[in-house]
Amino acid sequence: MKALILAGGFGTRLRPLSCTRPKLLFPLANQALLDWTFKSLSDNGVDTAVLAVNYMAEAIVRYFGPTKFDLGIIYSREDRPLGTGGPIKKAADLLIDGEPFLVLNGDIISDVDYRSLVEYHKKKGGLATIALIQVPDPSRYGSVELDGEGRVLSFVEKPELGMAPSNLINAGIYVFEKEVLDYIPEGKVSTENEVFPILAKEGKLYGYEAHGMWVDIGVPESYLEANKMILSKLGGITSSNGYEVDESAEILEPCCIGSGVAIGSNSVIGPDTSISDHVHIGQGCRIENSIIFPGVTIGDYSSVKNAIIGENASIERWVKIESGSLIGDYATISDGVTITQGVSICPSKTVTESILSPRQVM
Ligand code: GTP
Repeated sequence: MKALILAGGFGTRLRPLSCTRPKLLFPLANQALLDWTFKSLSDNGVDTAVLAVNYMAEAIVRYFGPTKFDLGIIYSREDRPLGTGGPIKKAADLLIDGEPFLVLNGDIISDVDYRSLVEYHKKKGGLATIALIQVPDPSRYGSVELDGEGRVLSFVEKPELGMAPSNLINAGIYVFEKEVLDYIPEGKVSTENEVFPILAKEGKLYGYEAHGMWVDIGVPESYLEANKMILSKLGGITSSNGYEVDESAEILEPCCIGSGVAIGSNSVIGPDTSISDHVHIGQGCRIENSIIFPGVTIGDYSSVKNAIIGENASIERWVKIESGSLIGDYATISDGVTITQGVSICPSKTVTESILSPRQVM
């Protein structure tokens, strides 16, 4: 079976980290975000992934190459953004082989059972099936209304509290028959807004309720949430060889530590924290629910909580970084600075004064 993965978005809500690398290469428990999907597709009988690439395509091609986890990888390159539907139309010749195919948003982390999804799709006999996931509050997303047979009746975008027809939302994972391609015009197209409503109206679209882990990585909070979910699934302390932890330092599970990492005395790392390769952490530091990219240096007595620190950033001594803040690659946060509440710091910037309200520092 084949799977088309939408891998060409700009990831604007994760700037500045997405200014220097595509979102699908962001580390999650020290592997690229898309590696988790590839593993799961390979375990579920998919043999070929078609990666629809646009923004920073070369970085993606260089990282994954022609094969990964026994999956063959074919690239469909776009010379301009085509949205979520246009890339499927563009890759049509690479997808059609007499079998239905999967379509996935590349920035979803889930343990949706692709085999069961495809079996359900074949049993129902529609042209397309959407995986649906139950959430406590669908008002941030769009709610999906089904009939008793699992057919999609309607979509309600961002429903007001209490007005949603169900708590089921589109999980960004689909099975398509080749006939769906006839519903997608050439150019930039939104599958969600321009294709699914027509299929639903014609009674040819079904919904499959999926269970288990699911996160759509759009904003810093959901990126941290995905990291936490993967770490708790892995359990314990996942580590590579060759890291050095002072015997007085403590690592709280679940946590992931890369190779060449050094952790100084009396530091406490974790839970829910990924420390990438070659990160150096001084003494008396506290790092919790955070993602630290490769090559970062964190000076003595600094704390990082619910934050993401970009590659080779330098966090000096007595620094405090909190609450969904993003520090760009190669930035320097000077001694004694506090950064809180969703502050983003651009790559290579030096910050010498505390920033206590949400702001982007260019
Ligand atoms: P934001 O800019 O922060 O909204 O993030 P995004 O670029 O990831 O957009 P969005 O979350 O809407 O995208 C959903 C999925 O579609 C992601 O996996 C994107 O990589 C992918 N995607 C979005 N636009 C395009 C496109 O023009 N071409 C391709 N190939 N993929 C796209």
